[in-house]
Amino acid sequence: MRLHTLALTAAAAVIAGNAFAAPPDWGKVPAKAITLYYPGVSPIEWVYTGSEHGGVRALKKGETCASCHHQEAADMGKKMVSGQKIEPKPIPGKVGSIPVNVQAANDGANLYLRFSWKQPAGGAEKMDKDNQVKLAFMLEDNKIPGANLSGCWETCHTDLRTMPAAKDDKRTKWVKDGALASGKFYDLLQWTSKGAKFDGHVADKRVMEGGKALLEAKGEKKGDEWSVVFTRKLTGGEGDIALSAGKTYNFGFAIHDDHTIGRFHHVSSGYTLGIDAKADINATKQ
Ligand code: HEC
Repeated sequence: MRLHTLALTAAAAVIAGNAFAAPPDWGKVPAKAITLYYPGVSPIEWVYTGSEHGGVRALKKGETCASCHHQEAADMGKKMVSGQKIEPKPIPGKVGSIPVNVQAANDGANLYLRFSWKQPAGGAEKMDKDNQVKLAFMLEDNKIPGANLSGCWETCHTDLRTMPAAKDDKRTKWVKDGALASGKFYDLLQWTSKGAKFDGHVADKRVMEGGKALLEAKGEKKGDEWSVVFTRKLTGGEGDIALSAGKTYNFGFAIHDDHTIGRFHHVSSGYTLGIDAKADINATKQ
């Protein structure tokens, strides 16, 4: 009798903990190739300055960053990482871009996202001694003006810590009029190579905790190839964007490579993630 009760309790705990969540067979999930580029100092204020950025007029008419920059990300990264353009502090040996394969799927309860890429050359000063690599992605539910064009750029501003014009070294990402209550926020999830995972958000400031959706973030390096898999409940709590079938969400991601912090990351343009809905990246039910 006692054993029987124990077994039932254990089974209930397993169900509550979503231990049944299992990533799909990634070999069968198509990959979207997205090249991350080193963005130099290109906060949203720079992006919308006509005298600085050739894309402004089209952007104001509703063209996405990716429509102009998806193909040429590697060339852009090269210009900025070398200091030829908008980078006052080039890091020697740093690569301008990182090509990444992104795969997505869902099983009706969870979203699975897999990122894979080759470790680029590095060897610069270790700003983050604990983590060689960190990968983060953000999701947005079509409530922040511009997020459908720019992906994460609505959180990137001239006054952020590590930016040349920063006045406060605690100032992290923020969104104009950002608030959880109005839905004007980005969901932010991060994996670090030391083995940590974070489930936060960006509203009036960046918060790296409080989310209830992230179940797992696991990364490994085989040879020189990294792969990171996130398992995230479709729904969550405060600061989590509730994902539902038939809808698309704004999506962007970034890698802090070679022990970097702050703005010294490689970033994606903005893309759409669809839950059983046609998008740039399709999380189709398996
Ligand atoms: C209509 C096409 C177009 C759109 C849309 C566009 N850009 Fe650009 N962007 C350009 C062109 C052309 C350049 C290069 C020449 C220049 O700066 O005028 C450029 C340059 C840049 C650069 C500097 C690196 C380089 O290669 O010169 C960055 C960074 C950048 N864009 C980011 C963005 C972001 C972020 C968005 C969306 C919020 C965006 N762009 C939207 C056309 C576009």
